[in-house]
Amino acid sequence: MKIDEISTPALIVDVAAMDRNIRHMADFFATGPCRLRPHFKAHKTPEIARRQLAAGSCTGLTCATVWEAEIAAEFCDDVLLANEVIGPGKCERVAALARRIQITVAVDSPQGIESLDQAAKAAGVLIGALVDLDVGQRRCGVQPGREAVLLAHRIAGSGNLTLRGVMGYEGHLVALENRADREARTRAAIERLADTARLIRADDLPCDIVSCGGTGTYDISSRVEGVTEVQAGSYVLMDSDYGRLHLPFEQAFWVLGTVVSRPEPTRCVADAGHKSQTKDHGLPTAPDLPGAEVVSLNDEHATIRIPADSVVKVGDRVRLRPSHTDPTINLHDSVYAIDGDRVVDVWPVAARGYAEHRYNPST
Ligand SMILES: Cc1ncc(COP(=O)(O)O)c(C=O)c1O
Repeated sequence: MKIDEISTPALIVDVAAMDRNIRHMADFFATGPCRLRPHFKAHKTPEIARRQLAAGSCTGLTCATVWEAEIAAEFCDDVLLANEVIGPGKCERVAALARRIQITVAVDSPQGIESLDQAAKAAGVLIGALVDLDVGQRRCGVQPGREAVLLAHRIAGSGNLTLRGVMGYEGHLVALENRADREARTRAAIERLADTARLIRADDLPCDIVSCGGTGTYDISSRVEGVTEVQAGSYVLMDSDYGRLHLPFEQAFWVLGTVVSRPEPTRCVADAGHKSQTKDHGLPTAPDLPGAEVVSLNDEHATIRIPADSVVKVGDRVRLRPSHTDPTINLHDSVYAIDGDRVVDVWPVAARGYAEHRYNPST
């Protein structure tokens, strides 16, 4: 199949560019003691995760939801759920996973500890736990220092949870454009995480994992003394928001659209609206069309301002560069893997959506 035969809108992945991103990151982590735990939520696609793991330097995968962890468990035996697991049935599903793989969950409340512990006890398993710290993002997590140590004691005192360490995601810093600012603030935030790990150990509790980091900070956080793993995800495919930072990763995925209308010389419209790509980090760009600017997305339309002398015509294909990887991929059932103008494979985005009702463990 040729790229021209794909029905649009569709997601296409440039396999060679993606593999170069994977290689670059694996090589970086091969040079120090810190490991990579790629975030599966970035693409939710088992074929991509398999390639990340095969490239080396990884301890396992990071997931954001139980559903992602269930899919990941089919090909990865060490999964970190870097998120609080609360709500009916979820802890039981984590306990079921603990029978098959090493699973570790972030916790930031006594209730979270209690419900995971009960589920583990009922299933007769041990579940790993990390104390989730707020390193400044002001999302989930307890404060570094004493509050975190108290929670660590609570985990250690539970019957069926194993205290494995701490995590803290510096999401408020990963996209800071100024490198010096990003570096200084990330170091300060992650040092508080590493310091808390030391306080926990000083209380004779285990704390082997210190987990943090994203695509914009992987080479900063990973070099803070005591950090054992980095949870970066977006680096594998990239997006225009991270493109601003001039990181050593290439844009490797695109939303492919078709020009369906050119109602006036300075405007064309492609069939790739916000049901095929998100705009939470801004509108996509259209680098294949010189001088073009995407000015709006509707459900199924991308309206693009073009120079009056543009040669673009109805029926042309146009690649749009999304502003945010993770939620864009989540809109698609599958991605087309391409090499030049050839489609070499079609990969299911197996963990997209919230399709737990479909779940049927195969192993
Ligand atoms: C907890 C956590 N860790 C890691 C990441 C990965 O970050 P990035 O997209 O910068 O690679 C995210 C992304 O939102 C996250 O929420």
